[in-house]
Amino acid sequence: MNLLVVGGAGYIGSVVTEELVRGRHSVIVLDDLSTGHRDAVAPLAYLVKGAIGDAARLREAFTTKEIDCVIHLAARSIVSDSVADPEGYEEANVRQGTILLDAMKEHGVSRIVFSSTAAVYDASAPMPLRETSPLVPGNPYGWTKLRFEEILRERARADGMRYVSLRYFNVAGASIDHGEDHRRETHLIPLLLDAALGAREAVPVFGSDYPTQDGTAVRDYIHVVDIAEAHVRAIRYLMEGGASATLNLGAERGLSVREVIGWVERVTGRGVPTVEAPRRAGDPPSLIASSEEAGRVLGWRPQWGDIDTIIETAWTWRQRYPEGYAE
Ligand code: UFG
Repeated sequence: MNLLVVGGAGYIGSVVTEELVRGRHSVIVLDDLSTGHRDAVAPLAYLVKGAIGDAARLREAFTTKEIDCVIHLAARSIVSDSVADPEGYEEANVRQGTILLDAMKEHGVSRIVFSSTAAVYDASAPMPLRETSPLVPGNPYGWTKLRFEEILRERARADGMRYVSLRYFNVAGASIDHGEDHRRETHLIPLLLDAALGAREAVPVFGSDYPTQDGTAVRDYIHVVDIAEAHVRAIRYLMEGGASATLNLGAERGLSVREVIGWVERVTGRGVPTVEAPRRAGDPPSLIASSEEAGRVLGWRPQWGDIDTIIETAWTWRQRYPEGYAE
């Protein structure tokens, strides 16, 4: 198949691209490298460097090969940043996305796999969250993703587009070649690993007064390779004529920030300095998935669900690339 991975130079996109190339698909990556890295793109994929709004690059991406399916991962995705800049998030995650959908229509491409998020849910709903749980995002980031999900539904009705929206929970871990390297890191596990390496001072624990077992926020951490496998299955599902679907992707268990710190110390065999800090803007207390529906529709089940495996793979990658990607 010929696949266009938009945002394929980012953390999750690079692992999705790696899996697709391994599956002998022909992969075009469209990425402006604003947060992604050229070296993160698998060598057998063809990189078009450009933004979604760059008409010439977009045309190149759609005409180099006849595209069977688009995988759209290009977005701004930091919850606390979205609280500070809701308009910027709206522009990047909604408006730019509709430009991509217009280009798909123009080039006769009707299938898309979209990266959505657990942040679309009402975090006060009972856990685990199912796709039928109430949708009330607690931050602008979640609202932009929910809005784009709605736009996909509208386009499906109007233009016959078919989509799979994948609601990721907390993606972590690494493959052998691709891991997490954000120019400004905000995610818990890479920060803790950097602190274990001695490359960072004490990591703040944002909030110790949440209504959780130890007062720190609870998340459902899911291995990036399992996330990539879900994309492979979602593409196959759409190619075989599957109906549009919206699916949670999580490991179906919650871990508190303190529990994750404990696991990082056990896996690395090193102490990790931390310091208590106030809650971070936009953070919900708890997010835990039910992934039953993804099992039913895609036959997907996490294979790398244990938190020690997730941390171990991220740690191996970090030690291999202590400075991250070359450029
Ligand atoms: N945390 C800390 N200290 C830090 C960093 C994080 O205590 O220095 C805490 C956060 O408060 C949160 C947990 O660790 O409770 C996880 O935080 P991350 O920043 O790693 O991830 P988020 O839960 O904020 O968000 C991630 C993605 C979102 C996605 C969400 C889905 O970045 O795009 O998971 O659950 F929507």
